[in-house]
Amino acid sequence: MHDPSARSFQTINDSEHGGLSAEEGKEYEDYRSSMEIGRLRGKTAIITGAGSGIGRQAALLFAHEGANVAVADWNFAAAARTVDAVKEFGGKGMAVGVNVTSANDVEAMVNKVEKTFGGLHILFNNAGIMDSEDDDVINTPDAVIDRTLDVNVKGVIYGCRYGIPAIKRSGGGSIINTASFVAIMGAATPQIAYTASKGAVLALTRELAVVHAKSGIRLNALCPGPLRTELLMKFLDTEEKRHRRLVHIPMGRFGEAVEMAKAALFLASDDSSFMTGASLVIDGGLTSAYVTPE
Ligand SMILES: NC(=O)c1ccc[n+]([C@@H]2O[C@H](COP(=O)([O-])OP(=O)(O)OC[C@H]3O[C@@H](n4cnc5c(N)ncnc54)[C@H](O)[C@@H]3O)[C@@H](O)[C@H]2O)c1
Repeated sequence: MHDPSARSFQTINDSEHGGLSAEEGKEYEDYRSSMEIGRLRGKTAIITGAGSGIGRQAALLFAHEGANVAVADWNFAAAARTVDAVKEFGGKGMAVGVNVTSANDVEAMVNKVEKTFGGLHILFNNAGIMDSEDDDVINTPDAVIDRTLDVNVKGVIYGCRYGIPAIKRSGGGSIINTASFVAIMGAATPQIAYTASKGAVLALTRELAVVHAKSGIRLNALCPGPLRTELLMKFLDTEEKRHRRLVHIPMGRFGEAVEMAKAALFLASDDSSFMTGASLVIDGGLTSAYVTPE
């Protein structure tokens, strides 16, 4: 089910093997007991794209906060590795193979999760791709535009189509859709299909939030800034190149996947109970900065 043609944002500390990486182990070993008093105790969550990156970190964190976590990804082996890691500290997880561009797959995923865990309260529509051939509007091939919009927009729409009724059946909950900082500011490095797709995620999240506001379902978008990913670090392979990027980020560093997971946890939990239709920007200050050369 894995599409090797898609450019992927792999985080550089992802575990290649089942179980927790050394870095993750430290984070979750220390707080083993919090599952009993966690912020998501008794909740069931689906996280798409949870085989790696932000999704994997969110799966670990949500499980750690007491949720039953359905770890969904088209790379089933990667999803299973995340579940191994969840189980290593006693969390409850289930791997689901799903291609979010297929309505049938997404419907089956929601049904399976409801059947296994008895309901659904949190849906994190996080799976996304950025294609290596994505470029200026003049050059980007139709196939790239179609593929990107299919995963990044239709994937979120299908998640909401089947997730909203399921969450209603469970008495309400929270949906988080992953957009990007490029949905709110123009990127000088062209990636038109990706940017258009993330703008669509923001717009559809707002509308769905308004439509479903009275039925106990909150919908919010998460807008990450540039993260310390394998892809980005490979691309910025000299100190000088990295510096040129970092100049735009007031905090002077790239974000980490786990920092996005923590923001997603806030949106998933009752801590954000009066928040819907919002875009939570987690970008080290990037979108607030008016940058001048030194
Ligand atoms: N990494 C960044 O710098 C960054 C910045 C802004 C936004 N984002 C967004 O964050 C989200 C997660 O990115 P990440 O950095 O964790 O990426 P990642 O590549 O590490 O993880 C994405 C996961 O989604 C899965 N996936 C892709 N297409 C799928 C499909 N059709 N069906 C099911 N699963 C699919 C992949 O297998 C992968 O495991 C994406 O929506 C991305 O656009 C990332």
